[in-house]
Amino acid sequence: MRIDIVTIFPEFFDVLDISLLGKARQAGIIDLGVHNLRDATTDRHRTVDDTPYGGGAGMVMKPEPWGEILDGILASDSEPDAVEGDGPLVIFPSPAGDVFTQAMARELSNEEHLVFGCGRYEGIDQRVFDHTATRARVRLVSLGDYVLNGGEVAVMAMIEAIGRLIPGVVGNPHSLVEESHEDGLLEAPSYTKPASWRGLEVPPILLSGNHGAIAAWRREQQLERTRRVRPDLLQP
Ligand code: ADE
Repeated sequence: MRIDIVTIFPEFFDVLDISLLGKARQAGIIDLGVHNLRDATTDRHRTVDDTPYGGGAGMVMKPEPWGEILDGILASDSEPDAVEGDGPLVIFPSPAGDVFTQAMARELSNEEHLVFGCGRYEGIDQRVFDHTATRARVRLVSLGDYVLNGGEVAVMAMIEAIGRLIPGVVGNPHSLVEESHEDGLLEAPSYTKPASWRGLEVPPILLSGNHGAIAAWRREQQLERTRRVRPDLLQP
């Protein structure tokens, strides 16, 4: 998968050199490009924002640098039917977008080329979304119902959730199946050795060797935990 990120803080993504995603990049499974939006400015101050038309607090990101930088990224694999077809998918993290979920992460892990545009300040000039939507698929995606200072943290979370679902990134694919949200429920608690620690015992069923009973116990734990912590997930 090819991933491009547009940001005014490229160093923010240096951590993608390490851990599982770093290994996936070395193995050629993920091909990452991080682009500094300020490189697409033309003035001495490398200005990326300006005051909002109509007044109001804060600053809005100017359209020109975004247009320039996306021209370069999208030109590299644009297709005639890019708006409906298989061309790049451009994602702008935004509290006004669709909420990111495990199901969305799985869907996005099948894409060939994702482009993330990180906004800052009070957001990006609306015409950037409108213009980009004339030549690529565009989605606004929110990490949740709270406001971050910019899109970088949201993009990092999305890339981690998406990247680990790409075949070959996580060593044992079975470990992905047993996680929270994969089957719509929270995961069961986990234990490892020693069987007794500071007076706390591992539930005896897990030591029984009875795989059927263990699976049933785990399922019951998942249901109990989901009912208690996230009853909303059980609504039809
Ligand atoms: N940018 C600011 N807040 C955000 C959020 N909740 N999700 C995604 N991007 C954001």
